Amino acid sequence: MSFRLQPTPVARPNRCQLFGPGSNVKLHAKMAASAADVINLDLEDSVSPSDKDSARVNVIDAINTLDWGNKTLSVRINGLDTPYWYRDVVDVLEQAGDRLDQIMIPKVGCAGDIYAVDALVTAIERAKGRTKPISFEVIIESAAGIAHVEEIAAASPRLQAMSLGAADFAASMGMQTTGIGGTQENYYMLHGENRHYSDPWHWAQTAIVAACRTHGVLPVDGPFGDFSDDEGYRAQARRSATLGMVGKWAIHPKQIALANEVFTPSEDAVAEAREILAAMEEATARGEGATVYKGRLVDIASIKQAEVIVKQSEMIAG
Ligand code: COA
Ligand code: MG
Repeated sequence: MSFRLQPTPVARPNRCQLFGPGSNVKLHAKMAASAADVINLDLEDSVSPSDKDSARVNVIDAINTLDWGNKTLSVRINGLDTPYWYRDVVDVLEQAGDRLDQIMIPKVGCAGDIYAVDALVTAIERAKGRTKPISFEVIIESAAGIAHVEEIAAASPRLQAMSLGAADFAASMGMQTTGIGGTQENYYMLHGENRHYSDPWHWAQTAIVAACRTHGVLPVDGPFGDFSDDEGYRAQARRSATLGMVGKWAIHPKQIALANEVFTPSEDAVAEAREILAAMEEATARGEGATVYKGRLVDIASIKQAEVIVKQSEMIAG
């Protein structure tokens, strides 16, 4: 056990991150009016190369003119392997007002990627006298990203969240998959003649959660491409929540309610967690470190587990 305390991530809800292309202006007001906790205006892969310049203008205009309520407002810049990213950072930070909260850096491969963006952002903030520091979020979506995930999680005090980007990740890893996230036809175990499907994203997700929890960053599950498959989305999101992730992306508005449902602890779960805390309080008063709740052992570790659920629920409530 380390003597170091695990740092606490930023206390804000991040159940659903809604994406929309910077080039699709008619979506921006709908995004602002949505029930997503985080908005990601995209300059990267949902914008074609010929639209990169106009998308920047649209995004700056949307940040400055729409009412984003109390949402976390983020812009996804282009990757550091493109000719676009520096202009994304410079134009957005010089021209968008203080309502902008965050920049999302895609395809991060090492801590140096974050250092480079941090240096540019810091210079612009000083030059322009921006008073609210911009926070960062990153996408782990390459072999290098997952290999260096811990140094990436530790790279900057600006870093608040880290997402798994399943499609680019799969391509970079050489995985024989199509589709964005979810169950994969050929990833199964045989028991007799029965196929039991396994989760090919599990390792990357747990690696991300461990790196994030070590360094006080929010771990987030990325996109689920088949927006006609609600149950597939729910199943993926429930696995992510079980593993410690706090939210998931929506690439279509119908996925927002699904994410909010899965990543808001249910009333039953909160009630049970409170009962466990009460049972442990009584046990402690009796001088006992362990007791029985509904026929099962609860002890001091159970307090910490229950507190995760209660604190998450209180933070979301307000
Ligand atoms: N945010 C807000 N509203 C959206 C939306 C989004 N991302 N995507 C669609 N809508 C709106 C549509 O404008 C439409 O509104 P209306 O009922 O007022 O006409 C409604 O939701 C239903 O949309 P639908 O017709 O089902 O989808 P579509 O064909 O217009 O768009 C996509 C489908 C996938 C192209 C679109 O959802 C999209 O661009 N998603 C984001 C893609 C993205 O950002 N990718 C990068 C991250 S992986
Ligand atoms: Mg990607």
